Amino acid sequence: MKLTSTVAAALLGLAPENVLATASLQSGNADQCCAAIAASDIGDRVVYPGEAAYHESVTSYWAINVQLEPNCIVQPHSADDVSVAVQTLTSAGGDSPCKFAVRSGGHMTWAGANNIEPGVTIDLSLMNSTIYNKEAKIATILPGSRWEAVYKTLEAYNVVVPGGRTGPVGVGGFLLGGGNSFHAARIGLACDNIENYEVVLASGRIVNANSETNVDLFKALKGGSSNYGIVTKYEIKAIDNAHLWGGISVYDNSTTDQQITALVKFIDNIENDPYASWIGLWQFNSTTGQTTISSPLDYTKPVAYPSAFDDFYQIPNISSSVRHATLYNLTSELQQAAGYRDVFLTSTYLNNADVLHKTIEILNEKIETALPLAQGTDWSIMVIIQPWPKVLWQKNQNNGVGNVLGLERFDENMLQVLYDYSWDSEADDALFHRLCEEALAELDNYARSIDAYNEYIYLNYADKTQNPLRGYGDENVEFIREVAQRYDPEGVFQTQVPGGFKVSNA
Ligand SMILES: Cc1cc2nc3c(=O)[nH]c(=O)nc-3n(C[C@H](O)[C@H](O)[C@H](O)COP(=O)(O)OP(=O)(O)OC[C@H]3O[C@@H](n4cnc5c(N)ncnc54)[C@H](O)[C@@H]3O)c2cc1C
Ligand SMILES: *[C@@H]1O[C@H](CO)[C@@H](O)[C@H](O)[C@H]1NC(C)=O
Ligand SMILES: *[C@@H]1O[C@H](CO)[C@@H](O)[C@H](O)[C@H]1NC(C)=O
Ligand SMILES: *[C@@H]1O[C@H](CO)[C@@H](O)[C@H](O)[C@H]1NC(C)=O
Ligand SMILES: *[C@@H]1O[C@H](CO)[C@@H](O)[C@H](O)[C@H]1NC(C)=O
Ligand SMILES: *[C@@H]1O[C@H](CO)[C@@H](O)[C@H](O)[C@H]1NC(C)=O
Repeated sequence: MKLTSTVAAALLGLAPENVLATASLQSGNADQCCAAIAASDIGDRVVYPGEAAYHESVTSYWAINVQLEPNCIVQPHSADDVSVAVQTLTSAGGDSPCKFAVRSGGHMTWAGANNIEPGVTIDLSLMNSTIYNKEAKIATILPGSRWEAVYKTLEAYNVVVPGGRTGPVGVGGFLLGGGNSFHAARIGLACDNIENYEVVLASGRIVNANSETNVDLFKALKGGSSNYGIVTKYEIKAIDNAHLWGGISVYDNSTTDQQITALVKFIDNIENDPYASWIGLWQFNSTTGQTTISSPLDYTKPVAYPSAFDDFYQIPNISSSVRHATLYNLTSELQQAAGYRDVFLTSTYLNNADVLHKTIEILNEKIETALPLAQGTDWSIMVIIQPWPKVLWQKNQNNGVGNVLGLERFDENMLQVLYDYSWDSEADDALFHRLCEEALAELDNYARSIDAYNEYIYLNYADKTQNPLRGYGDENVEFIREVAQRYDPEGVFQTQVPGGFKVSNA
């Protein structure tokens, strides 16, 4: 599999001395790396700029700003294909190792997390099947799947797995960062329900990680993101009943105070009825000029108007779609438009009404600041508030294996604020990044001043300016580092795969 630059040069039809010259001109040695894959056993899995499959892959990232253009994209069909790709990319490139990226659903919002330019992107989209084993009650899900397809497949068996609350979200990244679902209060984070991972290591070796084999890797993958290898299969425990009750209720901005009162109580009561899930979205849209509050209220068994949401029913709504529906149906309703420039930032706070009032006060200030400055016409400033109650980590012990999120250090009910800004004009990139970062910093500072700040940062919502791994605590960072060294001694996933949150930068 090893390719010398002379072989690569021959493939490119260049004299060897021209390879380095050509390469260093624009894209390092990325073209040489693409040529090495093209010459390997998976040569027919490579697509290049100008081809339809390349265009489709690039444009299928959720946020416009992460739609980079790699020199080529590799689309493996199997773990064996991924292994060949990794072996090729770690041996080609000569003195300057190939740089590559790994992508599943492409929903992470910062450029370079799941894509690379120049470089090679391994796009797992074609590895997207879901198979259910009824006897074992285990779903085998490939990383390139989208949750909507997973739910649709499992609906036939009347079971579900904990996954994204928006249908198109990808499986691969979601499960590696934790995974918050409608079912979280009942069964913990999605990663705590995984029984087995199949992983392609930097050496190209394909291993399993579960509670008996490679137990250290098994634990480290639960929150440890892209630090050890490429996950090519997840086996997840299924739970009964694809039929839920829920929908989205929409309210006027003027109901904010009532929402906050109801929410603080709701979070403290979740442990009494863990079937209930609530999310609150405060969103200003420049096209409508309005701020609306919308709340997905979802109950993970088919019971209409459960009392867990009593305080929310008392708040006058503009509309509500609550109904009996399957998980597939609810997650196809709850969508956020793709095709914008986006930034996500997030922090965790104690469950505290003052923090929530401050969150909305800051939100309103940022809207006022943006209005005269934004150059685009279609933009949105939003905060999404999500319960982060201690049942998420205190109930599900994951057969004693645990995870690396470090949440067991905390014994309080908390909440998360996701700052989610979307806009259409590149000219506004600096403005919205600045406002979003300021909003986070101001709320963090306020929360610190009243002892309501928590250092945990949910990786799946974090921006590149944040350091979510550090928030897992020193012991977990050290553990992630050790496991990464053990399974990837050359540090391929730290240096050759620079995208995502790396323990070497934590
Ligand atoms: C509209 C929207 C809705 C969302 N809803 C939820 C929600 O309900 N709950 C929740 O918890 N989160 C949610 N998220 C956040 C989501 O969990 C993250 O965006 C997550 O990264 C999505 O997974 P993905 O497969 O699309 O990741 P990608 O963007 O493809 O990848 C993310 C990171 O993981 C790495 N990676 C991906 N696959 C693999 C693999 N197989 N092996 C090794 N590394 C890999 C990538 O290199 C990258 O660094 C949402 C995000 C959006 C934009
Ligand atoms: C898997 O991906 C292919 C190619 O994009 C698509 O045609 C197919 O419908 C997907 N399958 C599922 C189950 O989503
Ligand atoms: C939303 O309500 C707040 C008061 O809570 C107000 O200051 C703000 O202007 C309102 N926003 C819009 C867009 O009406
Ligand atoms: C929404 O408002 C209607 C009309 O007041 C009410 O009947 C309904 O119960 C409310 N729904 C929810 C989910 O709050
Ligand atoms: C969800 O169910 C509603 C009826 O309750 C139906 O109108 C809608 O089309 C369904 N959506 C999908 C994606 O199946
Ligand atoms: C703003 O609202 C309009 C109309 O509903 C919608 O088409 C658009 O996608 C929204 N913009 C953003 C950035 O969410």
